[in-house]
Amino acid sequence: MVADMDELPKTGESEKLLATGMMDGPHGLIASAVHFDIFTLFPQMFSGPLSESILKRAQERELCAVALHDIRAYTTDRHHVCDDTPYGGGGGMIMKPEPIVRAVETVLARPAGWSLPAADAYTNLPPWDADSATAKGDIPIILLTPQGRPLSQTVVAELSRYPRLALICGRYEGVDERVRTQLVTDEISIGDYVLSGGELAAMVIVDAVTRLIPGALGFELGAEQDSHSPGLGGLLEGPQYTRPHTFRGEPTPDVLLSGHHGNVARWRHEQALLRTLHRRPDLLMHLPLSAKDRAFLHQHGWLAE
Ligand code: ADE
Repeated sequence: MVADMDELPKTGESEKLLATGMMDGPHGLIASAVHFDIFTLFPQMFSGPLSESILKRAQERELCAVALHDIRAYTTDRHHVCDDTPYGGGGGMIMKPEPIVRAVETVLARPAGWSLPAADAYTNLPPWDADSATAKGDIPIILLTPQGRPLSQTVVAELSRYPRLALICGRYEGVDERVRTQLVTDEISIGDYVLSGGELAAMVIVDAVTRLIPGALGFELGAEQDSHSPGLGGLLEGPQYTRPHTFRGEPTPDVLLSGHHGNVARWRHEQALLRTLHRRPDLLMHLPLSAKDRAFLHQHGWLAE
């Protein structure tokens, strides 16, 4: 699993990315910028999400950088095979260990920002020691898999403390177990359902981590006030309104127009409590609620203590 803050890697001077160290973020100390190395058989899947909106702007501002590494480029056989049938029989294909391990070890041995020149794919790969591991350093090497630990805002905040993260997208029916035992340092699932591969899960992580970097959202307190975030004490965010004042006969609550900041803040907090009670009562158990919050929730039917 990922290391303590004290053990966090300091990135090298040669990095293109301005990962100059740690800074205060909405969740405590975080990296001032994050570099993602993503290992995938389908790099083109990422082009849409990375080239729009907040992720696009964050890259332009050098708050995050994403290097996509095509695992297939690290095969050396004539047909560029990345999968094979499982030992012991059974259906489906398993991702072979060599291309993945070679890709990750080759990339992570080099400064953030390096990727294999397209002309060198398959035929002119940097030398690699096939027999002994080299990549176990300070950079988390995360396998996206439904078997991983569940992603939560707490895990996202933990990941945001690293200046560099490696994400491996599994495909087919799984990856050879030696990828786990010899390379991977963490495994993450984005939910109890099965996707066709880890690519969408990797995009979720890139998005959720990037929006925690100060400046990425373009407005103060952005991520702080999100559902599940510390600014809301881990509660879901309550209802929000904008113009028009009345839509199809449904008006905006008067308190939001009152101009009384204290009343607005109290109302928002109560709405966050109610929304969490109605939609995710399981979350309430783990939150540090005040006596007043507890009394309010009990008044509204909260049965648990
Ligand atoms: N790959 C396939 N399903 C996944 C999931 N739920 N989370 C992360 N990676 C996956």
